[in-house]
Amino acid sequence: MAERRKLIAGNWKMNGLREDGIALAGGIAAKAMGQDLACDVVVCPPTTLLAKIDRAFEASTVALGGQDCHAAEKGAHTGDISAEMLHDAGCRYVIVGHSERRTDHGEDSATVKAKAVAAHRAGLTAIICVGETGEQRDAGQTLDVIAQQVVASLPPNADGANTVIAYEPVWAIGSGRTPTLDEIGAVHGHIRKTLAQACGTAADRMRVLYGGSVKGANAAEILAVEAVDGALVGGASLKADDFWQIVTAAS
Ligand code: PGA
Repeated sequence: MAERRKLIAGNWKMNGLREDGIALAGGIAAKAMGQDLACDVVVCPPTTLLAKIDRAFEASTVALGGQDCHAAEKGAHTGDISAEMLHDAGCRYVIVGHSERRTDHGEDSATVKAKAVAAHRAGLTAIICVGETGEQRDAGQTLDVIAQQVVASLPPNADGANTVIAYEPVWAIGSGRTPTLDEIGAVHGHIRKTLAQACGTAADRMRVLYGGSVKGANAAEILAVEAVDGALVGGASLKADDFWQIVTAAS
């Protein structure tokens, strides 16, 4: 079985003015300093903070990521940001297809795929989010919905270096509710099978993260579930201590 190094990704979402953002980044960088971490760590701040905090992480192994990108390289797309711009700002990763983008901006899996293609074009690793709604879960559709989203969102030539999948049940995001460990294991196992069918052995090293109400108190047990290769963390990534507890659980 291929070894997959765990990845902990912090998604700050639309949170953080300059002072708070710099303090939070400084707090995380201080914890990372001099540590020989056994997992990869990426922080995805709002775009406005990228240039303000990249220095903080310079001497550590913490990487920067964007929260979204446009599919085009440049052009008349007011308010959008390209993958090339994120790369230019020091990012190595970009989240695409987060459920808040799928819902707030009507992004379907074809759009998400185009964004993942753009991420690869720019040399970024795409963190592709998938997840079922509460209604789909109640209707017993979880595995089908997830497999469909994975297949339709995956760009060509996806592999372990350029692509990460994040399974985030929509109903678990920011709600304090999580699936049972067995349920998480079942979905992750299904994603692995789906990835193997879609990509063959190129999928062996592709990491599948869990996201949705991950915090210090539940991180160790979730990260111990078979086929969980890390976590995408929202609320708990906004405090350095809380975030680092999750990083430590993965290390
Ligand atoms: P949460 O968000 O950790 O606050 O539930 C996770 C996410 O949306 O990525």
